[in-house]
Amino acid sequence: MKKVDVVLGLQWGDEGKGKVVDVLTPDYEIVARFQGGPNAGHSLHFDGDSFVLHTVPSGIFRDKTDNIIGNGVVIDPVILMDEISQIETKGIDVKAKLKIAKRANLILPTHRILDAANEAAKGKSKIGSTLKGIGPAYTDKAARHGLRMGDVLLPDFKERYEHLKKAHLVQIESLGYKDFDITEYEAKWFECVKTLAGFDIVDNEVLVNKEVEAGKAILAEGAQGSLLDVDFGTYPFVTSSNTLCAGVCTGLGIAPSRVGEVFGIFKAYCTRVGSGPFPTELFDEDGEKLRQIGHEFGATTGRPRRTGWLDMVALKYAVMMNGATKLIMMKSDVMNDFDTIKVCVGYEMDGKTIDWFPYEAKDDNIKPVYKEFKGWKSDVSKCRSYDELPQELKDYIKFIETETGAPVTIVSVGPDRSETIFR
Ligand code: GDP
Ligand code: IMO
Ligand code: MG
Repeated sequence: MKKVDVVLGLQWGDEGKGKVVDVLTPDYEIVARFQGGPNAGHSLHFDGDSFVLHTVPSGIFRDKTDNIIGNGVVIDPVILMDEISQIETKGIDVKAKLKIAKRANLILPTHRILDAANEAAKGKSKIGSTLKGIGPAYTDKAARHGLRMGDVLLPDFKERYEHLKKAHLVQIESLGYKDFDITEYEAKWFECVKTLAGFDIVDNEVLVNKEVEAGKAILAEGAQGSLLDVDFGTYPFVTSSNTLCAGVCTGLGIAPSRVGEVFGIFKAYCTRVGSGPFPTELFDEDGEKLRQIGHEFGATTGRPRRTGWLDMVALKYAVMMNGATKLIMMKSDVMNDFDTIKVCVGYEMDGKTIDWFPYEAKDDNIKPVYKEFKGWKSDVSKCRSYDELPQELKDYIKFIETETGAPVTIVSVGPDRSETIFR
């Protein structure tokens, strides 16, 4: 059976999905986003240029690739149009290369305000949301009163909008949130909706199934990471969609039997933005070194990312939950100058050592058990073949393969397209 391949993050997001999709795209005719929204920030570097994509699939810069924003995605028309205008400056005809799902839900200006109001009400226990309106938009989707992309073509779209906005304003008021003005954003929002109405708005499930049956090579691009999954992540410190491989089926409309290779991406260490448990988090010089050398600052919000050692317990959980068939290791070059590198191989919790990711995980109830590795202490960013890599890095990779049971097929040694080693 012809299949759809998948790229997704195995950690807490920002693993380097944008770069990997861009690198893999020459082998694919269609790239499709299946969940998340403008909370994502996928960075691409090539030909001396850099881009951060939030909603548009990372295949957009390649000539022969069509792109689909799937039904599982939530769309903020303002952010999407902004992004499209930026991509167009590269001479790319985005309108010709992009299709948008009719069933994708819209993020309204009041969803963004609700996000901020919810977070403010949570106080110290806030999630650390990107405040793009993701949670409230998915809430409306599940509550069955969301507005969808296909609705923008309806004659009563404005009335439906006003009706939902009115309900949002009541909620915002009940949260005691006052300090906002959406007038300007709302005007821009309607302008952008009008422009997007002229795009190719499709029944993506029919399209994707027809294309896969016709033999087209399709790549599904995930956003966020496995540990931010609404069901299996570190709830409630998660996003509001299924970031795991299962999300591809509901977010694009394909059957589970249609899922092919699952490329699981991870950093050679770990990062997380926002609140929530992070067992291997470092608060010392090593953590700061990873942040500075790895430029670990959010691509969407600019917030400093929390940093820590690779967490094998969490990684094995993510490989299992996604059925990852191939692994891709990113940012090996960031650890060029460490004498010792640690990997968490177990959690000490309530006097016991466990090797799975527990439901009970909190900020402070897990003590990681570490295995130490000798650092490679050399610059791997110039390496272009696996043979050129230092033995210490090869040992590190071998250990990861043995523990996860999946092969590491690509090693990334820098942000640029060209800084990639295929095995
Ligand atoms: P995404 O959300 O998974 O697409 O990842 P982000 O773009 O948010 O964050 C990954 C960051 O690491 C970006 O700034 C990338 O340019 C950068 N990056 C990706 N791969 C590598 C790599 O192998 N080495 C280094 N040093 N940076 C990388
Ligand atoms: P990409 O696709 C890293 C985090 C936020 C917050 C939590 C909920 O670039 O890997 P939300 O805005 O969804 O309500 O935020 O999830 N988060 C991400 N962290 N990378 C992302 O996307 C993220 N998208 C959301 O920081 O902790
Ligand atoms: Mg990102």
